[in-house]
Order: sequence, then C-alpha cells, then structure tokens
Amino acid sequence: VKDGNGVKGMVDSGLKDVPERYIQPPQERINKLDSRPHEVPPIDMSKLNGPQHGQVVGDIVRAAETLGFFQVVNHGVPVELLESLKDAAHTFFSQLPEKKAAYRKRVSPSHNVKYGTSFVPEKEKALEWKDYISMVYESDEDALQFWPNECKEVALEYLKLSIKMVRNIVEILMGNLGVKLDESKIEGLIGMRMVNMNYYPTCPNPELTVGVGRHSDMGTLTVLLQDGIGGLYVKVEQEHEAAKEGEYWMEIPPIPGALVINIGDTLQILSNGRYRSAEHRVRTTSTQSRVSVPVFTVPKPTEKIGPLPEVVKKDGAARYREVVFQDYMNNFFGNAHEGKKTLDFA
Ligand code: SIN
Ligand code: FE2
Repeated sequence: VKDGNGVKGMVDSGLKDVPERYIQPPQERINKLDSRPHEVPPIDMSKLNGPQHGQVVGDIVRAAETLGFFQVVNHGVPVELLESLKDAAHTFFSQLPEKKAAYRKRVSPSHNVKYGTSFVPEKEKALEWKDYISMVYESDEDALQFWPNECKEVALEYLKLSIKMVRNIVEILMGNLGVKLDESKIEGLIGMRMVNMNYYPTCPNPELTVGVGRHSDMGTLTVLLQDGIGGLYVKVEQEHEAAKEGEYWMEIPPIPGALVINIGDTLQILSNGRYRSAEHRVRTTSTQSRVSVPVFTVPKPTEKIGPLPEVVKKDGAARYREVVFQDYMNNFFGNAHEGKKTLDFA
C-alpha cells in the first residue's frame, strides 16, 4: 500500500484492512466502552461581563485544576464561522492528492504551511490514522499569501477571535495564582500561534487504530473545534486514589456551537503543577470521516519557561526546571506521542 497521499489517499483507493504499520499495540487501542462521558455543561464566556463574573472565573479555574479540559459557548467566535471552518477542512482534504502534496514539507512554498500525515512518522512504532495541514501565523500578509485558498480566510478569522479568548483565560488563570503579567509577558507566552486542520478518514477497523495517540499539548492553551462525530478522550487521574484504579478516560462530547479549551504543558510548568495539561487521544470511526480544527497558542521559542516565583514561594519548591521553549519544542517534536512524557523534559 502506498501512503504518499496520506491516510485519506489510502482509504480512497479502496482499502479493506488496516495496514500493519497502523495497528496499535493492545495497550494503546481505544475501547469505546471503557470511557465515561464528560457531563459538565459548557462555560458561558459572555457571563464574564455580568454579575456572574466570579462564578465563571471559579468554573474556569476549577476545570484547569482538575480535568484540564473544558468547553465554552458564547466565546466570541460566531457559530457560522465554525460551520465554515468545518466545511473548509472537508474542502481542503477532498482535493486531488497533488494539490495537497504541494504543501508537503520541503516542497511547500512556505515554511509556515505543512501538509502531513500521522505525528512524527519516522519515530512512531504505529502510525496515527490522520492527515493534517498546519498553518503557523507570522503576519496577515504571510497568511493570505501562503495559507491554502480553501481555508485561509476562515482560518485567519478564527485564529484572531480565538486569541482574544485565550488572552482572557490566561489572565484569569494567572490572576488566580496571584500573578499579574504585563502585556509583553502574556505575548511571550502566546506569541507563537498556529491553526491546524485535522482529517481522520473512516477506518475499516477502529478497534485496532488511533486517530491521535496519547499526548499532552506543549503550549499554553489550545482551542479546539471538533465536528459532531466525537472520539476525543481525556485521561482522568485521581491522584489520591490507588494509581491504576483511579484512572479512566472521559469523552469530551461534541456540543453544537461550543469550543473545547485545554491546558498545555507550558501552563502546567508555570503554575508548578497546579493547572493540568491532560493526556488525551482520539478514536477513529468506521462510518464517517471526522475533522477538527485546533488553534495552538505557544510561547515564543526564545522564551524561558519555568515555575512562576510567586507560586514556588507558596509551594516551597519548584517541581520543574526552567527551559528555553525552543528546546522543549525540539524534544516534543523529536518523539512519538507517548502520553505526558514530554513534561519530564522540564
Ligand atoms: C489532538 O489533540 O491532537 C487532536 C484533537 C482532536 O482532533 O479532537
Ligand atoms: Fe492535542
């Protein structure tokens, strides 16, 4: 089987069985029946501007400290734009293979745009059942010139509106730690931004594969748009219970019009472990292809990331060392998805 056209190309060529190199070892396979649904209602961000401000802040902080994932509505990104983004993702991936291949690493007209498959194929023992296009934001001009025509306008608008919300949430989470970051510090923490479009083709055997393997996100905050198909699972660790028994997977169910927010490794490190960068993964399905559109907000590569002095003072000791974010990133992209191992670097 040739996979030069991504997983989608392989599936479109009429594949009946999952090729060997996509078969996950038993411990990585996802059994739908092993999980529980996340039943916490989405947080209404518009209430931050009214009498319920304090309660909403409390909900955000609690979610960041426990599951590390929450959903938001009235988030400032119009629901029609969310619909257009999902359509744009389908439009991009349904193009002829050669149109997509023009964005492969090394041939892409821009170092900011990359089309690929799986995560780090050279490092993975079993590949992920996923294709993606990744678009790093440098400037409006760059985005409008180099991002694919099929999605550039909607992706750029989505990125901008998401960033506003990310700023708000970062300020809330920092405020809760007693830390007031000035504008340039916040910019340092979210100074690198990218939008990805993920495409998970239908899979002949979802019991054997993963869409994305267990990992935590490396950055500050991730905003994620998922479509209505479902399959995003977050690991719940109840640290006080006997390790194994306390662990289970929770599905983040699709909610129309909502966005998913999750805490990345950077915030876990800054908060000295108070905020949780949760391990998560994605299941494949045999009936419909799934799309998701994450916005990643990540520190600038030159930024030094370490536990905030205010928090270390309270806690008595730093749980992580300080790292230059470029080094953290190199380690992140130098390894296959293997849960939260990335945090061992700090
Ligand atoms: C990811 O976390 O890498 C993807 C999440 C998703 O597609 O839902
Ligand atoms: Fe992720």
